[in-house]
Amino acid sequence: MPTQTVPQNEATISFNGKTISLPVVRGSEGETAISIDKLRGQTGLVTLDPGYGNTGSCRSAITFIDGDKGILRYRGYPIDELAERATFLEVAWLLIFGELPSKPQLEEFRSSVTRHTLLHENFRRFFEAFPKDAHPMAVCASSVAALTTFYQAPETDSNVSESVVRLIAKIPTIAAYAYKHSIGQPSMYPRNDLDYASNFLHMMFATPCESYAPDPILARTLDMLLILHADHEQNCSTSTVRMVGSARANLYASVSAGISALWGPLHGGANQEVIEMLERIEAEEGSAEKFLFKAKDKNDTTRLMGFGHRVYKNYDPRAAILKKHCDEVIKRVGMSSRLLEIAMKLEEIALHDDYFVSRKLYPNVDFYSGVIYKALGIPVNMFTVMFAMGRMPGWIAQWLEMRRDPDFKISRPRQIYTGATQRAYVPVDQRA
Ligand code: CMC
Repeated sequence: MPTQTVPQNEATISFNGKTISLPVVRGSEGETAISIDKLRGQTGLVTLDPGYGNTGSCRSAITFIDGDKGILRYRGYPIDELAERATFLEVAWLLIFGELPSKPQLEEFRSSVTRHTLLHENFRRFFEAFPKDAHPMAVCASSVAALTTFYQAPETDSNVSESVVRLIAKIPTIAAYAYKHSIGQPSMYPRNDLDYASNFLHMMFATPCESYAPDPILARTLDMLLILHADHEQNCSTSTVRMVGSARANLYASVSAGISALWGPLHGGANQEVIEMLERIEAEEGSAEKFLFKAKDKNDTTRLMGFGHRVYKNYDPRAAILKKHCDEVIKRVGMSSRLLEIAMKLEEIALHDDYFVSRKLYPNVDFYSGVIYKALGIPVNMFTVMFAMGRMPGWIAQWLEMRRDPDFKISRPRQIYTGATQRAYVPVDQRA
């Protein structure tokens, strides 16, 4: 007779002769977790999970990822449908409010974002103070934190929506100002007659000297890139935003911390590293095989950037969408396809190489995004800023969800102390 599997609602743990039951929690897609809130109280034990690979930090209804199957959905909607059919502001609304907006809701949101794109004039002086070669991620993180100094009213449940709109509206202006400052050009005011992505292209590439018309196909590609980056559940920067916000820090301060986390080369900074890797291979006329040999060598720190992911053990669905659009964008702008060819060659070899296959290393979102950003004319040191612009609604949605969670608590992990045990203070003249 076949044995029937009964879903278990409890797990037991035995330690030091004592057994306790811990409740099992299930998510709407069948993910299962053991809730350990009572563990320390009942046993004195804590858990140790460096890098949090086995730790669920919250319950969340925003984004679902099945890394083994290569699935990504925002509020239940598959990423490929949203990327092909929705606009970034529509997706921003979806992430923040939980449902797709009605036509009037979307129009009101679009209009409200459009009317908040201007920065306070004093911001110009703030930008002028940065060195010309300042990394734009540092400029963005400081500028977003500085918004708190211009909008000082304490955040309440009823006025937080103003901060939400301001952040989504002003991040492209801040990003474009950072770029214009770095190349010594005057910053361009936003244009209210343009959509979100076209306005960003205008602020980046227009000058006061001549007229500039953003290419609608390139603007649409940029909008799609922002959608692909809009949320990715509890990754390093989002967990940072939640953690900072859990101290009841305001939204600007929390998002600024998220931007700093995103800057790291193992997180959002990887898109810059990918293009630098492809350019190095091209400049050295090196072969993809030779590079992969180094990436596999344990005595060499080289990694195949844009490959591998903590969660995806299959093709990152965002990489698949981007790969499909690379060719079209490159042809549109008449750019050489050499970098794309190198990327595709690296991918082809890696996906047949036992090192990458056995470790389930596949292209992630950053592998092809850099090739598209380059075709759009975005300078390499701005790539991670583009990621931050896209991630803004995700950070906001996660921050709001965390603040409204009935189980809300300040984040405060434990540790296993491994330092010196108690010892007596020795005055300086008696120390060896
Ligand atoms: N090239 C060569 N080997 C790799 C790579 C890579 N890109 N990624 C992982 N490995 C190897 C790693 O050496 C290890 O091998 P072993 O088991 O023999 O020690 C194994 O695969 C597991 O790697 P890990 O570093 O333990 O895995 P992780 O989950 O801690 O790290 C990762 C994930 C994304 C940090 C890592 O895959 C990586 O460094 N990739 C390159 C950087 C990158 O593309 N980052 C962007 C991530 S996607 C955008 C985002 O969400 O931020």
